[in-house]
Amino acid sequence: MANLFDVPQFIEEAPSAAVDHRASAAPAQAAVVFDRVGKVFAGSNGAPTAALADVTLNVARGEVFGIIGRSGAGKSTLLRLVNGLEKPSSGAVRVNGVNVGELDERGLVTLRRRIGMVFQHFNLLSAKTVRENIALPLKIAGVPKAAIDRKVDALLELVGLAAKRDAYPASLSGGQKQRVGIARALVTDPDILLCDEATSALDPETTQAILALLRDINRRLSLTVVLITHEMQVIREVCDTVAVIERGRVVETGPVWRVFGEPQHDATRALLRTLVHDLPADLADRVKPLAGIAQADARVLLDVRFTGGNSRDPDLAGLTSALSIDGGGVSFVHGGIDRIQGHAQGRLIVSAQVRAKKGATVHAQVAALVERARGHANHVEVLGYV
Ligand SMILES: Nc1ncnc2c1ncn2[C@@H]1O[C@H](COP(=O)(O)OP(=O)(O)O)[C@@H](O)[C@H]1O
Ligand SMILES: [Mg+2]
Repeated sequence: MANLFDVPQFIEEAPSAAVDHRASAAPAQAAVVFDRVGKVFAGSNGAPTAALADVTLNVARGEVFGIIGRSGAGKSTLLRLVNGLEKPSSGAVRVNGVNVGELDERGLVTLRRRIGMVFQHFNLLSAKTVRENIALPLKIAGVPKAAIDRKVDALLELVGLAAKRDAYPASLSGGQKQRVGIARALVTDPDILLCDEATSALDPETTQAILALLRDINRRLSLTVVLITHEMQVIREVCDTVAVIERGRVVETGPVWRVFGEPQHDATRALLRTLVHDLPADLADRVKPLAGIAQADARVLLDVRFTGGNSRDPDLAGLTSALSIDGGGVSFVHGGIDRIQGHAQGRLIVSAQVRAKKGATVHAQVAALVERARGHANHVEVLGYV
């Protein structure tokens, strides 16, 4: 059997002139490689379901990799291929260079010890205490009791649950249950952690705490984390890279700041809609087209976006002077700037005064103003006039 984890390098296959190797030209540091993976389930009523098609992705060692997509897109199936709970119908999944689909039962047992998994509904045993739940994978593996105790105590400290070591799951909050789930997933010292909607059953505050814990673990233990969620805030908070899955296909992938700043695919934009500051209702009610206002003197309402593409922070002073075309007031009406992976991005709704001048209509003045504003932001669009 291949020695799975003592080989830190990605193992390259013997080159073959007959095979196109572009898709498998993974970087040496890839922890997980999906190479043209397809998965077809035999449907219960005879009709097969293509859950995944032609998925090619590289998860770099030590990164937090997020997978988003609507319900039924194929996210869980993708994750279950990593620890061999499912086998690909076509293509290959490689973990630390080893083809998971080719492992025998013993190989899979070894593999799963190196891959922790955290679930939405915690999957704790209610008749066992916190420490017994965490200890279980080691007990099954036949590890001596003293070594188990040491490991479990260290993990209880790591997840902040030392005081609850002898409690039963029923007496724990959702966040505490998930801390137990995370500790149990880490007890075999995995180098990859898979999280399937790990925070979806938690309230926003608890979600933040669990995400902070996952990020801390990722950094302290140099753990590769592959995380599925339908919550865009989760991706923005913790992930380095994100892949968007739509009907079993990867439609977009890249660093979070870029995918969130400049989404290229409709599916991504639809998912990100939950993050966008929409126009407040009172403002929306007052916005009119240019024809609907007195044209000699108007306030134009602009949608100004910063996508984080340049490393500079938004220059609001520069933007303000670019918008002060007629010396009229500039107001920042709505919106904000967030930082994602060190890139400042966000959306501001700004209003600015424009006046028709001799030889230039309001329309021409607005066009000039938008042109100038574009020198200080990534996107500037006219929403209307107030
Ligand atoms: N064991 C299975 N048998 C048959 N169909 C399945 C099975 N697992 C998943 N599917 C189907 O594959 C598709 C993707 O499912 P899943 O990976 O669970 O999506 P997601 O996690 O994105 O919601 C769905 O159409 C689902 O019904
Ligand atoms: Mg799922």
